Amino acid sequence: MTAFDIPTIDEVHSLAPAIDTLPGRCAPYYMAAGEGERHEIGGQLITVIARAEDTGGQFGAAYIYGGKGIETPFISHEHEHRFLYVTDGELQVWLPGETQVLAPGGSVAIPPGVPYAYRMLSHRTRFLSWLTIGDGHRFAQASGYETSSHVFDIDAEQPISPMRQSELAARFGVRIHDLDKRDLSPRTGAELPLDQTPYVLEAGEGDRWASMGQLNSYLARSRNTGGTYFAMHTIGGKSSYIPRHFHRQHTENFLCLEGRILLHANGKEILLTKGDFLHAPAGTIHSFAFDSHNTQMLGLLTTDVFEKFFEYMNTPTQAHVHIEGGDETFPVEGFARARAELDLEVVGPPPQRGAGG
Ligand SMILES: [Fe+2]
Repeated sequence: MTAFDIPTIDEVHSLAPAIDTLPGRCAPYYMAAGEGERHEIGGQLITVIARAEDTGGQFGAAYIYGGKGIETPFISHEHEHRFLYVTDGELQVWLPGETQVLAPGGSVAIPPGVPYAYRMLSHRTRFLSWLTIGDGHRFAQASGYETSSHVFDIDAEQPISPMRQSELAARFGVRIHDLDKRDLSPRTGAELPLDQTPYVLEAGEGDRWASMGQLNSYLARSRNTGGTYFAMHTIGGKSSYIPRHFHRQHTENFLCLEGRILLHANGKEILLTKGDFLHAPAGTIHSFAFDSHNTQMLGLLTTDVFEKFFEYMNTPTQAHVHIEGGDETFPVEGFARARAELDLEVVGPPPQRGAGG
């Protein structure tokens, strides 16, 4: 078992976020779109933006970028939950008994042991790949070679033999399955399943809650992930900063999908635009504000201890977009309940815009 470098909560309070570099310990950091550890694997560029050593072993994250026709065999992960979120192009995903074409905003959640495969259908297809535990992207990295490029190789050939690929797979807890990619009927899940079965969601679907001019959609809940993480998509207009706070038991990850997000992390204000990522492990004093119309954010929180926060702060909705000009008052009651019951410690009022930059 690897021992991870996890600073104390008090120590984390005072760590300035690292910028465009993986810290090698469980510390706050920002990665601009395109930055990260990059490997070329048979026409796919994998850009790792979080490794086990950067997250206390909780998860790993990477962008995968490739051209039309690039595909994988069916694989499964022995231990890890995988979550894919498409940001560009179209991605066809195969799960047992179904296949689905995902456009930007579409996602798929795959529990351990479930075989799946994908094919890129657009010339510039890109998606976020999230893996619990944190080492799974090493399989992809080891299958290719390091590169300084920010673009996939259009002349790439299969880099390693199937035998070598099987050897590597076994080393990284991955199993390769001899299954055909058949055109089965699509099944779109507008509702999240009640258990750990794999599922796809089209953009705009999920378990939806609204307040303050924002729509918050659970794309994966605790019951789907064995409590390892939950995924929250938020869309909304310009908003005020929320009170500065920190968490003791969970990590909050912010990914900008569209628009502009201001992040305040340990006294530093950082602007996130499309593709930018901020890792705020337990102890990071943070707040955020949306800074442009129709901003979209993906929050990936490990573990699941904060899942109820969005229920306390919002009301259920069937809408697929946020409502402008509605009631934008801060839900004081819900926030008080979250402070009393959940992993939430408020340290001060919302920061001033432009402070700490
Ligand atoms: Fe937070």
